[in-house]
Amino acid sequence: MKKYIMDCDPGHDDAIALILAARHLDLLGITTVGGNQTIEKVTTNALKVLEVIGRTDIPVHPGSQHPWIQKLETAPQFHGASGMDGPQVPVPTTQPRSTHAAQFIVDTANRAGRISLIATGPLTNLATALQLDPMLADKVEEIFIMGGSVTFGNWTPAAEFNIYVDPEAAYKVFNAGIPMRMCGLNLTRQAFVADKDLEILKGINNRVALFCHDLLRFFIDSCRKTAYIPGANLHDVCAVAWAVDPALIKAVDMHVQIELQGKYTRGMTVCDYRHLRNELPRQDMVHEATARFRGEQPNCAVGVELAVESFFSLLYDTIKSY
Ligand code: RIB
Ligand code: CA
Repeated sequence: MKKYIMDCDPGHDDAIALILAARHLDLLGITTVGGNQTIEKVTTNALKVLEVIGRTDIPVHPGSQHPWIQKLETAPQFHGASGMDGPQVPVPTTQPRSTHAAQFIVDTANRAGRISLIATGPLTNLATALQLDPMLADKVEEIFIMGGSVTFGNWTPAAEFNIYVDPEAAYKVFNAGIPMRMCGLNLTRQAFVADKDLEILKGINNRVALFCHDLLRFFIDSCRKTAYIPGANLHDVCAVAWAVDPALIKAVDMHVQIELQGKYTRGMTVCDYRHLRNELPRQDMVHEATARFRGEQPNCAVGVELAVESFFSLLYDTIKSY
């Protein structure tokens, strides 16, 4: 069974992604990163989620307070002052571990020999781990991320929040030579929830379902108020769902690069899918041709289509199982 570390910034959708991961994956640990809220708040939220689902056996290692270069930008307008407004959860009794997230990733990869990573926040911790151990890339099987977009952004017209918050870290991770699985906004907007989903959660009516109900009640309302969308997107849950059941996501291999310089495009995931422009000969011929033409091979499997019904069946069956 593959062994995972999940790096996150809970965050309403991170919290639900954690619930799915804890039930189906061999999670060696959770690492937290400044993003939706400050490192202190997202760490407290991760501890809270693990207490709600009865998995305080999973260690939580706090990581980077801020991005590599720019100032931390948080998202209180979507996730509230605590980063996980809505559910009333007691102050956690469990404590975070003292080893920094990046060091924990390096140590765990060396102990386990080979691990897979899931990242649902800015990529600061993963990039720092790659700096700490230049041999880390050889010990990481693959990285599933929620981040970026093949089409338009959310934080800016070009950039998605997780990449936008720390583009330099994203550049480091995307160029480390590790197989990437990218759940961008073009995919995660297919994981749309609205009031009908609140009714389903009320119907399941166990502790975890009611916790998810209160999470989504707040998240749907904040998305409506802030972005005028009639619901919310379970962005981060897609990255975990891909690891749990690869059949849920149709992906296309592309070369993806992170824009660092653009005045209007900094933080954009520049996805090269010119080889998909029409029905061309065999994909390997096309990759070879476009690689010869532009010099880069695909470095990322980019999610383009979500099996929506199966995705929500997995999610609700998982919540029921707690
Ligand atoms: O752009 C969506 C991403 O930003 C999600 O990971 C959400 O939790 C926020 O971190
Ligand atoms: Ca997140």
